[in-house]
Amino acid sequence: MKKDILKVLLTKEQIQKRVKELARQISRDYQGKDLTLVATLKGSVIFLSDLIRFMNHPCAIDFIAASSYRGQVTSSGVVRLVMDLRESPVGKNLLIVEDIIDTGYTMDYLLKNLSTRQPKSLKVCTLLDKPAARKVFIPIDYRGFTIPNEFVVGYGMDYLEKYRNLPYIGVLNPEIYRERK
Ligand code: IMP
Ligand code: MG
Repeated sequence: MKKDILKVLLTKEQIQKRVKELARQISRDYQGKDLTLVATLKGSVIFLSDLIRFMNHPCAIDFIAASSYRGQVTSSGVVRLVMDLRESPVGKNLLIVEDIIDTGYTMDYLLKNLSTRQPKSLKVCTLLDKPAARKVFIPIDYRGFTIPNEFVVGYGMDYLEKYRNLPYIGVLNPEIYRERK
């Protein structure tokens, strides 16, 4: 597994420190308000589970899944809803919790979809932001880290369902996806 990772971009400690800061900021901003964290499956489950444990604000959680990747490293731009929310978003303060915003196609789709369903408010929290890959503008309210335009795995993020369990975030060795071509 180690040779699959070119370099460690963010250590477990760096991630924990930043997630704690984000949780505190979110708790402060939503003080006295209801809050539903909408986590995007599957990549953001680890981030969500750490984030809620650092929050001192009651919050509901729900899940949504959109897909644009289909096992490739680059985005097709064609996004489809794979799984919808379980609860109604009407009248709720929704905060989308995402692992990484790359081209932005997925978040653009989710924002458009959720905003038509009468939430009280709708904001975006992403652990990672890869601005160099952006194709559509995305308003980001909470951002963990800005990273270079490289394909990363770990802390929930995968390549073909592998590496999600790594406790750190690393750059995937390009040989791993070159081998498949
Ligand atoms: P976008 O639609 O291009 O912004 O991509 C959004 C989704 O693609 C993210 O939520 C991830 O699931 C996946 N993704 C984008 N970049 C990476 C990466 O570097 N590593 C792993 N998954 C990624
Ligand atoms: Mg994702």
